[in-house]
Amino acid sequence: MQASTPVYRHHLPLTRISSSSCRRVSSASRWRSTVRMGLKEDGPSLAVVGVTGAVGQEFLQVLSDRDFPYRSIRMLASLRSAGRHLTFEGREYEIEELVPESFAGVDIALFSAGGSVSREMAPAAVQRGAVVVDNSSAFRMDPNVPLIIPEVNPDAMAHITLKKKGKEGWLIANPNCSTIICLMAATPLHRHAKVVRMVVSTYQAASGAGAAAMEELELQTREVLDGKQPTCKIFKQQYAFNLFSHNAPVLSNGYNEEEMKLVKETRKIWNDKDVKVTATCIRVPVMRAHAESVNLQFERPLDEDTARQILKEAAGLVVVDYRASNLFPTPLEVSNKDDVAVGRIRQDLSQEGNHGLEIFVCGDQIRKGAALNAVQIAEKLL
Ligand SMILES: NC(=O)c1ccc[n+]([C@@H]2O[C@H](COP(=O)([O-])OP(=O)(O)OC[C@H]3O[C@@H](n4cnc5c(N)ncnc54)[C@H](OP(=O)(O)O)[C@@H]3O)[C@@H](O)[C@H]2O)c1
Repeated sequence: MQASTPVYRHHLPLTRISSSSCRRVSSASRWRSTVRMGLKEDGPSLAVVGVTGAVGQEFLQVLSDRDFPYRSIRMLASLRSAGRHLTFEGREYEIEELVPESFAGVDIALFSAGGSVSREMAPAAVQRGAVVVDNSSAFRMDPNVPLIIPEVNPDAMAHITLKKKGKEGWLIANPNCSTIICLMAATPLHRHAKVVRMVVSTYQAASGAGAAAMEELELQTREVLDGKQPTCKIFKQQYAFNLFSHNAPVLSNGYNEEEMKLVKETRKIWNDKDVKVTATCIRVPVMRAHAESVNLQFERPLDEDTARQILKEAAGLVVVDYRASNLFPTPLEVSNKDDVAVGRIRQDLSQEGNHGLEIFVCGDQIRKGAALNAVQIAEKLL
């Protein structure tokens, strides 16, 4: 699988980390061969929309890593990429220009080409019978579209199946990457003690803004070290050796759109319109994987030892919380990994009793925050 995106890969789940072997990912599993073949006659037919992008490339990686079965796969992008070739699981594919007819005969369409493309093309795919799993924000808050994190609210898509002949398909939305990473850690605690208020501060990587932003961070870093003026095309300000408020548009209430996604999507996913959420989203010059400081206030008491145990037992999470060695989650450690890492688990001193907790979460937002989450959703349809 190869198009133009420079993505650095290990594509493995973080192993469950015990307190005595926090850094040890078994070398056997680290270098396990990932040559797979999901091509199967009775598998669904797939389409990957935005296949040349950061998320699109990760879709292919995740499909392959998880042996996702498929009988055919269409590689779709813009006219700019049409006619180029890429190799996936040993076969060569031609990238096709995305048009409504691209979805004829497609069972599952994985979309990651931006909101305007989804708004225009996802209905065309649904009309032709496909189940669309959409990574953009276009349909997330549509009450008729389930917004799914498989570990958190799989029941919300229980009514959706692959098409029956002649019937329309369905839309399923993938939440925003920061929301997924946050709720992977907050939900097991919420289930136990009910979160009434959540304060999130994010440290977001370049990869969240796509392949071109990653290239810009690399270029700027070289330019600054060489004493040159940094090239600012994707972001308005210098990114290398700097940080700034998230580049999403700022709304009239002073929050930016990324922050409001955390607020609104949490309410929808938890089906709790009363939960209070506030967020501050910051871009940091990290290539890949987001970090988030999350402060939680609970309705019922929850002590930190119980919280740590709950988090250790939660699916898709790994606890990295070693106070003596000052070792906690980092974006580098989770890059190209499936699991979200959580640490800095401590009682919030500013809250009465055992009603407050601080945690620090890191997750690869191209993987669990986008492609992996979407493929897990698709797996529920099989
Ligand atoms: N990056 C993340 O961590 C992340 C996480 C969650 C969700 N998302 C969402 O996923 C989507 C893609 O993000 P990305 O980071 O992968 O962006 P990206 O690296 O910039 O890739 C964009 C992709 O969309 C394609 N595209 C653009 N315009 C198109 C058109 N008119 N018709 C068909 N294809 C078109 C591009 O194809 P060409 O190469 O042909 O231009 C490319 O394949 C966005 O909605 C983003 O919000 C991203």
